[in-house]
Amino acid sequence: MAKVKSKWVCQNCGYESAGYLGKCPECSSWGSFVEEVQSERPINISPQGIVNDCKPSLINDIHVGKEIRVSTGISEFDRILGGGLVQGSIVLIAGDPGIGKSTILLQTSGGLANLGKKVLYVSAEESAGQLKLRADRLGVKSDSIYIYPQTNLESIKSQIEELSPDMVVIDSIQAIYSQTIQSSAGSVSQIRECCNILMQIAKTKNITVLVIGHVTKDGNIAGPKVLEHMVDTVISFEGDKYKSYRMLRSMKNRFGNTSEVGIFEMGSNGLKEVINPNQLFLNERSQENIPGTAIIVTNEGTRPLLVEIQALVGATPYPSPRRVANGVDFGRLLQILAVLEKRVGLNLSKQDVYVNVMGGIEVDEPSADLGIALAIATCARDVVVDSQTVIIGEIGLSGEIHPVNNLEKMLNEASMTGFKKAIIPYANKDITHPKIKTVPVKRLIDAIGACISPEGNK
Ligand code: TYD
Ligand code: MG
Repeated sequence: MAKVKSKWVCQNCGYESAGYLGKCPECSSWGSFVEEVQSERPINISPQGIVNDCKPSLINDIHVGKEIRVSTGISEFDRILGGGLVQGSIVLIAGDPGIGKSTILLQTSGGLANLGKKVLYVSAEESAGQLKLRADRLGVKSDSIYIYPQTNLESIKSQIEELSPDMVVIDSIQAIYSQTIQSSAGSVSQIRECCNILMQIAKTKNITVLVIGHVTKDGNIAGPKVLEHMVDTVISFEGDKYKSYRMLRSMKNRFGNTSEVGIFEMGSNGLKEVINPNQLFLNERSQENIPGTAIIVTNEGTRPLLVEIQALVGATPYPSPRRVANGVDFGRLLQILAVLEKRVGLNLSKQDVYVNVMGGIEVDEPSADLGIALAIATCARDVVVDSQTVIIGEIGLSGEIHPVNNLEKMLNEASMTGFKKAIIPYANKDITHPKIKTVPVKRLIDAIGACISPEGNK
């Protein structure tokens, strides 16, 4: 019989202590420690289920079969996963409540069932009836999808053994509990233990396990960081609450690229892939030229995305001018403003500056600098950037424009969306495009000239 031990765990960050602590030494939260009683694991099995008594082997002597991938039936989702779900892997889908996690996994279940795979969908939050209603709405019909409303992990385990499905969906990890741990569902120990058991099932029985995880108020995946360490793939589901589009982003992938992004639109019949996302981000743009707007190309994963940057510059009624950045790093905006003042001679000390990335997305790439600077400069000077021009370049502190990566792909994307001209860094001048006139610039001031002079607008 396994021994029972007790420990105190911070419910905020998962820090463990032998006794109660008022303040967590790891995350500084107060009163977050809860006592948890746990059965001890046999000593020769690691938490990851690896038996610890094997011998070291030479890397050349280790033979592994090629991983088997199964298509989810949703091509964008397959791309983020690195070409489909790897059989026997464990994938965590994390996101805010209501973002569409259950929807995409039910659609995925449908996709796998169409390929003749058996799916067990464990619903720990909704009743079978609710899931059936959603399945009808999504048009998911199959006699190989089993819906199992259950929160007890031991029961789930025995059903997996009985049914031996190809894929198991756990909706959600925060709502299930294991009897071996005497703490409530959703606590750090429960989440960790349940994930361990699911991982052992995935690895020993070669079943793909998709786990839904909720995100806390501050945007972290609820439960300890160890959850992210344990699983093979972490996919984050993001989106703007007020818009219908959603982004799936791969944060960790043992079987593929990270930072891949897939874009979906939530409609009345579930999530649909957005084939040309640029249309989505640019279609609200007015076609005539407005001072203070610039189109940039940002790389979301390996996919270039065209987005509009808007700036508003105006005399301030306040003693110190306001700077507001939406979708752009605040420190980065201040740096761009400093360069505009010092190297271009634009006096912004008595001007409020607002910068906004349209479509509610975050742009964190240095290659967006030049577009942000031009949006601000053109608004301050009341001139326009040609609406057929995209702006690409990173700005240095002395006002020089640094080269960027992935420019060819960016130009291709711009050309496909109908753009005719691109302002690019001088160091990238050798990169050309048959359908886009490239204007290489060395300094920020040259870029402003190229955008707003009559020659530049040709
Ligand atoms: P859901 O998948 O339940 O979110 P999560 O599991 O992440 O909490 O999706 C919930 C939202 O999606 C809900 O507000 C309704 C909306 N929705 C649609 O707009 N269309 C649909 O076809 C479906 C199934 C849901
Ligand atoms: Mg749900």
